[in-house]
Amino acid sequence: MKTILITGATGFLGSALTARSLAEGHRVKALSRNDPAGHRVRAAVDTAARGFGFSLGAEPLSRLSVFQVDFQDLPGTLAPEVLGDVTHVWNVAAEMSYSLKKILPAVEQNVRATSMLYALAARRARRCERFYHVSTAYTAGFGVEQVRERPHVAPRVINAYQLSKWMAESNLLLHHPELGLPVTLFRPSVIIGHHDTGWSSGASFGLFFLAEALLLGKRRHAEHVQLDLKADSLLNLVCVDTVVRRALALLETRASREDREIFHCIGDELIPLAGALEPAWSALGLRAGFGPPRHAVDAELQRFLEKNKPFADTTWHFHADRLQAVLGEAYGPQPMTPQIAGRSLTHFLAHRLRELARAPVDPAPEAARTAAPGAP
Ligand SMILES: NC(=O)c1ccc[n+]([C@@H]2O[C@H](COP(=O)([O-])OP(=O)(O)OC[C@H]3O[C@@H](n4cnc5c(N)ncnc54)[C@H](OP(=O)(O)O)[C@@H]3O)[C@@H](O)[C@H]2O)c1
Repeated sequence: MKTILITGATGFLGSALTARSLAEGHRVKALSRNDPAGHRVRAAVDTAARGFGFSLGAEPLSRLSVFQVDFQDLPGTLAPEVLGDVTHVWNVAAEMSYSLKKILPAVEQNVRATSMLYALAARRARRCERFYHVSTAYTAGFGVEQVRERPHVAPRVINAYQLSKWMAESNLLLHHPELGLPVTLFRPSVIIGHHDTGWSSGASFGLFFLAEALLLGKRRHAEHVQLDLKADSLLNLVCVDTVVRRALALLETRASREDREIFHCIGDELIPLAGALEPAWSALGLRAGFGPPRHAVDAELQRFLEKNKPFADTTWHFHADRLQAVLGEAYGPQPMTPQIAGRSLTHFLAHRLRELARAPVDPAPEAARTAAPGAP
């Protein structure tokens, strides 16, 4: 039985990874903040399991333990005995905000806490085989079309998230020779919901942020919205179950492994932006076009989407030959169709509409001002 230390288990990907790890018979130790009794992790993992179409019984859940830590003081709050029997680390947690006003919290969490966790695992987790760090394919930055599974030397990045995720990658690669623990940088593209159930946690990131803009148009009672985005840019979307499946397959794969690895975890087909979003505006009963704003609501949507526009308008071609070579048949190509994207968007919008029905205060202007957590 493997003992996997996971951070970010209250979040979208981390909760799903934890649920599937338990279902596959592993023990999971989740590090969580503001979660003294572990209720937040347990609730998120239970929801993710149901979102994937299964439920976790008492026995799998007994293999989950939650440890509250302060990620800014891991040496002081992560007891050495927690690491003693850990066989693998999956570092999933990340500060997701794009805002440059959040650059310090982003560096604190995404760079400093990540490096500290790696150092502690290298020194104290004697049975640990490898440190898996979830990064993002978008550390490639702008101005490159073909993106290989390699370190990015001087990427052109534009926000706190992208910058801090790139810094974290560089730091881990830098520290590996000294600390010795094998490290894998695992870079998903834009993660969407479960390919079959459409489940996601409801966080407005990536494609869902674009859907959030359409929802805003609906809430402003527009019948037709014009999105200031390129309709024909090609998106790389990958389903959360594909990401989790490949992540767990890596734990079983010993051949062709290297001490420092970089993998892209991507969808194996690109989808035009307009085709990906069409199910969202149809589900909302809206009509949509693409181009500069034509009325006040369009202008509001343009401001809302400002921080995501550079990502939505750019087509990257990510290569995943290394992950394919290491996983072999277990790689399992992931097609992308409007139907798959549609299930995901429908699930997301239903979740958001339920939330809005519970909290009728309009949170949209606040979201536009601060979060812009939006993209990949
Ligand atoms: N979603 C995507 O499309 C996508 C694409 C590529 C890569 N990724 C990567 O996948 C990972 C998970 O993303 P996600 O979509 O699951 O995000 P998410 O749902 O927002 O979850 C983020 C997780 O990180 C934790 N976290 C956030 N800020 C933190 C901080 N300052 N200190 C400690 N913990 C913090 C959250 O804990 P709390 O509950 O305590 O806030 C939560 O558990 C991230 O590393 C992200 O960069 C995501």
